Amino acid sequence: MTDKTGNATGTTAAEMRAPEELSAAEAEAELARLAALIGAANIAYHQQDAPEISDADYDRLKQRNSRIEALFPQLKRADSPSDQVGARLADGFGKITHAVRMLSLGNAFEDEEITEFDDYIRKYLNLGQADLAYTAEPKIDGLSLSLRYENGVLVQAATRGDGEVGENVTENARTIADIPARLTGAPALLEVRGEVYMSHADFAALNARQADIGGKTFANPRNAAAGSLRQLDAAITRARPLRFFAYGWGAVSEPLADTQMGAIDRLAALGFVTNDLTRLCQGPDEMLIHYRAIEARRATLGYDIDGVVYKVNDLALQARLGFRSTTPRWAIAHKFPAELAWTRLEGIDIQVGRTGALSPVARLTPVTVGGVVVSNATLHNEDYIAGRDARGNRIREGKDIRVGDWVQVYRAGDVIPKIADVDLSKRPADAVPFVFPDHCPECGSIAIREEGDAVRRCTGGLVCPAQAVEKLKHFVSRGAFDIEGLGARQVEMFYHDDQLAIREPADIFTLQQRDARNLARLKNREGWGEKSANNLFQAIDDKRKIPFGRLLFALGIRHVGEAASNLIAGHYITWNTFLSAMDGAVGLAGADWDELMSIDGVGQVMAKALVTAFSPEGERASIDRLVAQLEVQDARRIVAEGSPIAGKTVVFTGTLEKMTRAEAKARAEALGAKVAGSVSAKTDILVAGPGAGSKARKAQDLGIETLDEDGWLSLIGAT
Ligand code: IVH
Repeated sequence: MTDKTGNATGTTAAEMRAPEELSAAEAEAELARLAALIGAANIAYHQQDAPEISDADYDRLKQRNSRIEALFPQLKRADSPSDQVGARLADGFGKITHAVRMLSLGNAFEDEEITEFDDYIRKYLNLGQADLAYTAEPKIDGLSLSLRYENGVLVQAATRGDGEVGENVTENARTIADIPARLTGAPALLEVRGEVYMSHADFAALNARQADIGGKTFANPRNAAAGSLRQLDAAITRARPLRFFAYGWGAVSEPLADTQMGAIDRLAALGFVTNDLTRLCQGPDEMLIHYRAIEARRATLGYDIDGVVYKVNDLALQARLGFRSTTPRWAIAHKFPAELAWTRLEGIDIQVGRTGALSPVARLTPVTVGGVVVSNATLHNEDYIAGRDARGNRIREGKDIRVGDWVQVYRAGDVIPKIADVDLSKRPADAVPFVFPDHCPECGSIAIREEGDAVRRCTGGLVCPAQAVEKLKHFVSRGAFDIEGLGARQVEMFYHDDQLAIREPADIFTLQQRDARNLARLKNREGWGEKSANNLFQAIDDKRKIPFGRLLFALGIRHVGEAASNLIAGHYITWNTFLSAMDGAVGLAGADWDELMSIDGVGQVMAKALVTAFSPEGERASIDRLVAQLEVQDARRIVAEGSPIAGKTVVFTGTLEKMTRAEAKARAEALGAKVAGSVSAKTDILVAGPGAGSKARKAQDLGIETLDEDGWLSLIGAT
């Protein structure tokens, strides 16, 4: 077997043993293996932005490597991982050593730090209260590129790499329209530096195109820009709409100007695109004013920025100030607070879920929030829109949310975006309070709000097409029947199919029979053939035998999540015992009711939902039709393996509102999960409450499933 890098992954005896036990030959082979593994991990982390192993595993590999090297110094490899810091360059690109190092910037977050920055420079240069001007310009969220022009001709383009050595992406850079191939009137040697980026619109279109062709989609414009520039085939880069802002320079044969602003103007005159929000500021007060002005325009710029960069304007002073090890003393990046953006609320849609909940969804003018383009956000429920919490207390100082409003969007980690605030000063004169529907927009049934419930629900039950489809989607989902080839898309298709309709779960299991009777056979439909139709029938057949707990969960009964389903199955063991208990508990009283309520983890709300679902007024007939098609397997006594999170590693971050961290941890552990303190490639689920920060970002980078508190509670069946 080989892994993605083509390395053998089969475990050999040498890999298992302590370094001290290895022979020289084994140690040599082991060092080669470790160099390959660590190299691959470096590439995945630093160049593909897609780590494949946890930090801890990475450290273990490096430690093992060092230990073997210490025992067998003569075997230390020329490319030993011990001598490498962080990224190695991507294979396939030539390496370019920068004539002048490409550095990074120091960061500031608070206004006071800008005054301190100015004080520091004044002190460093012993300027007293003399005038000291700075440029202030947006910090573009892309990747930096150095372009080398010799006698006005573009001869080389290099990425930053580790700052000393970058990747040669000359051919790719030539495809970017903002990068001139020739300059007139430039110094004989000129290295222009700036940022490659992708606009929001181009990013959205690229992702849509990629999705259409089943290609890789990108998490944010920065990743899209990086992925597009780092293509070995320049034709691919050419097809990607990359842009370039020039903001600096490296080696030059003669100075561009005396000042930063003058140099930027010169670059613009030479044909580069420079940022038109670059301003000259006479000290911290003006810098902060411009910072606020740029921040206010952030949402509508059409490209991602993550702060404002201030640079000492006088280049002679810049030269005196010089550099620290990795950052200039003459510049600083004033970062924006994370993950908030203002945009327009274009409309409010009502989505109907499988339990009939009417969920308001904000349709927004697309805006980038924390590197992700957001066009929808949850509005929770009607109280939230009206400016109240569930107890009737005012939220957002009682401000309601109206279509047309200028709203503040935030993302806590990778969870669904939410609306935090409304700017009343920008409210259109004709905006009216939102009237929450009292009828289901999908089926027209009355939507009611029961006492104590924050949510209004459609009373249409399975008559409501939205509820029915959502229920079916849940039924075939991963923790439920998980039927191969029958996902959300196919369920939608079959639901609306007149000849082979799947309107309730039982219909799935009669599909083949009905197909055999039908003239418009599935295999003759567009997108289907004999083989795919037969595969689907087989996949359905494979799931006729189903464990009790899975079946119960698949029914999608409100409050009855995966864990609760297994809990209940573990209690009653057989489906028939359970059914007769539900029949016996119809009056919500008596021995069967008491027994149900006695199960640890089953409360009144869940018990009532269960009994109602199995009552004749509920879905009983539909459930019986389904079960007639199945062979329900008895449950085993409760073991943690039955839990949806058994064996998984869960990390909690941010604030949990419905339970304390300690309680959440205890519950997760009781369900067989491991609770870890930090996110790594080993993490399975991140539960991110409000205020989640770096852990959520890391989880996003690693592609780890991220849930908000409600998502988590429903996963563990605690809603
Ligand atoms: S000046 C000596 N100006 O931010 C450092 N950098 O966090 C010169 N960046 O590596 C950098 N916009 O990739 C500068 N207007 C701007 C920038 C900018 C984005 C990036 C650049 C740099 C990183 C540092």
